[in-house]
Amino acid sequence: MTATFTLAHFSDVHLPPVSGFTWRYWNAKRLLGYLNWQRKRRHVHFAEVADRLIADAHALRTDHIVITGDLVNLGLPAEHEAALAWLRRVGPPGRVTVIPGNHDIYSHMHGDRGVARWAEYMDAEEETLAFPFVRRIGSLALIGLNSAVETPPFVASGLLGARQIEIAREQLARLGQEGAVRVVLIHHPPLAGMTTSRRSLRDAAHFVHLLEREGAELVIYGHNHTPAVDWLPAREKPVPLVAAASASAGAALGDEPLARYNLFTFFDTPNGLRIRHVVRGLETPEGPVVKLSEDVLEKLD
Ligand SMILES: [Fe+2]
Ligand SMILES: [Fe+2]
Repeated sequence: MTATFTLAHFSDVHLPPVSGFTWRYWNAKRLLGYLNWQRKRRHVHFAEVADRLIADAHALRTDHIVITGDLVNLGLPAEHEAALAWLRRVGPPGRVTVIPGNHDIYSHMHGDRGVARWAEYMDAEEETLAFPFVRRIGSLALIGLNSAVETPPFVASGLLGARQIEIAREQLARLGQEGAVRVVLIHHPPLAGMTTSRRSLRDAAHFVHLLEREGAELVIYGHNHTPAVDWLPAREKPVPLVAAASASAGAALGDEPLARYNLFTFFDTPNGLRIRHVVRGLETPEGPVVKLSEDVLEKLD
């Protein structure tokens, strides 16, 4: 890597409003989701808040923006359309990468193409949308996984599946040999204990085994709406696992803080790659977007 590179990591924007909830898409899962939205979530998530954070990332001349899923709420076609319009305001496909979350692939689609509308932001033609995809952005290699699967009511778990894990294994090995800076994108927390079993990645053990063997320079995820930095011991060097909170939270909810996003700066040092990790977001609902914390991702034993 010759120049520094900055990557902004957004997640769980849950863009309002919920729209297109017609009889065709009406079922128990969506009804419960809708009640949850009306009772609780619509008082938390605001597109205007996400837009302020995006504007902040642009003002800082961020090279690329990643959004790790949950762009919408009930996985409805009208929501997918609205999210595509929003994505186009965030930036062109060459500057923005997206992966789906469980609220994007939520319940029965009755043949609708769903998140394939966002294919250009996943580096694919709509017809060839497949995961994991690899996007080479400068010296970074973004490996985009899809952990979202349709689930029954009260379940928000994820699944990668054996085929996706096998392809990711090949990609990580090849990109590692090429010396690329491998950044893995996944919506669900990658370790089993990071959330309850009803909300967790069901094949986390296989995924962790893959990361331990092949390594990665950074894994970023969302889903919990809470920020976190953890380390996974791996064969070559520990892998940082970094969560983003919701980028649209105009109100705190339980342990979910006000809106924030991660800003990573990758740079070379004589000792190899270093990653600076800044968290930016709101301290008060109406206040400016400010730096909330800064550290270097380093495993100190
Ligand atoms: Fe979410
Ligand atoms: Fe989620």
